[in-house]
Amino acid sequence: MKKKWSLLLIGLTVLSLSACGSSAPESESVFESTNVSESSKENIQSEESNQSEEVSSAEESSQASSEEPEEELSLRELFAEHGMKIGTCLTPQMTDNFTVQNILTSQFNSITMENAMKPDYIFDKKESIASGDLVVKFGNDVIKMLDWARKNDMAVRGHTLVWYSQTPAWIFYEDFDTGKGLVSRDVMLARMESYIRQVFESLENNGYSDLFYAYDVVNEAWMEDGSMRENNWSKTIGDDYLWYAFYYADKYAPDSIDLYYNDYNEQFKGDTLVKFVKTLVDENGEYLIDGIGLQAHLYTQDDLDLYFKTIDKLSETGLKLQLTELDVCLGSYQHPQIATDDNLKVQGQFYYNLVNGLLERVDAGTLKMDALTLWGVSDAASWRREYSPLLYGITNKAKYAYYGVMQVKEKAGF
Ligand code: GLA
Repeated sequence: MKKKWSLLLIGLTVLSLSACGSSAPESESVFESTNVSESSKENIQSEESNQSEEVSSAEESSQASSEEPEEELSLRELFAEHGMKIGTCLTPQMTDNFTVQNILTSQFNSITMENAMKPDYIFDKKESIASGDLVVKFGNDVIKMLDWARKNDMAVRGHTLVWYSQTPAWIFYEDFDTGKGLVSRDVMLARMESYIRQVFESLENNGYSDLFYAYDVVNEAWMEDGSMRENNWSKTIGDDYLWYAFYYADKYAPDSIDLYYNDYNEQFKGDTLVKFVKTLVDENGEYLIDGIGLQAHLYTQDDLDLYFKTIDKLSETGLKLQLTELDVCLGSYQHPQIATDDNLKVQGQFYYNLVNGLLERVDAGTLKMDALTLWGVSDAASWRREYSPLLYGITNKAKYAYYGVMQVKEKAGF
């Protein structure tokens, strides 16, 4: 699928031959430590994580009681029976916490770095200015988590290359100086190619490529009304930045890494995404993309029928699908709820029904899904922790939601 091929643009509406950029010099010692700038989003997230004591105690008092689930199977064993991995996002703080680490290693077999591999954290500005090309340099957190993943038999989802958010503005400007103008299309295409090449080359050169089975090439490019989100990538390159992102990723990623488009509110973007992925093809009409990532930031009052209709529609593209950031808040988007025993039971049922519908489709062969990733382990460290979205409560006890995912109906709040 990810064959190397010459840049012919027949049949594609969005391409331009003149834009193919030249390769940039390789960055040196990409795995050295680097000072990474803190994005405001990360600041918010870590501040939030430190405030877990403020979370309602209803969650802890009302959740299912055993710290170590007594079921024979673990999550990873259950999903393996369906040919799937089960993952969580990961931070260095999680691997430093004894209880969380035990849950991770006994229940999960895939990780996605919550922040450390995002564009905000992987460019070296000084070296970029010095060399005149974008320089990728992964930080210590990335190395630490990849080594941890290797040691604990965890596969890795890469997240994320091309995004409008958590991406430094300076990469789009002349001389990497936001006081100057945005660079031309040709320059930005060359920077994009160099960036994507360096990411995959440095993972390969440092012996980490084999850990990765999927990579989010583009994150959150489409709006619910079907329009494309404006950002610095589209401003500099044009709307075909999306095609080029997949073209370069296909060119430089090893075949063993599936290339994903990842988005949220997916149940409202089905038609848009079906149309979009059909444009991500080479001159032979073969896909440059391997899968669609559904972030699945859901609510217990979301319409599961609509969700499965979207899944079935997206499956017809022939691509793989993954749930990539699953968490299910209590209540609805308009009226989120804090935890009570009753709504935690509803949450357990929601998780049960969601996973049940997925596994049925996977087993029937109508859904190609090889992994499901939750966006965290414990409610205490969730970016949506106020509404208790995860499988473990704030003291790391398994909730009804855990048993819902485990398909243990009698403990899932029914
Ligand atoms: C999006 C991104 C994730 C994470 C979440 C929550 O879903 O894809 O990486 O940042 O937002 O902040």
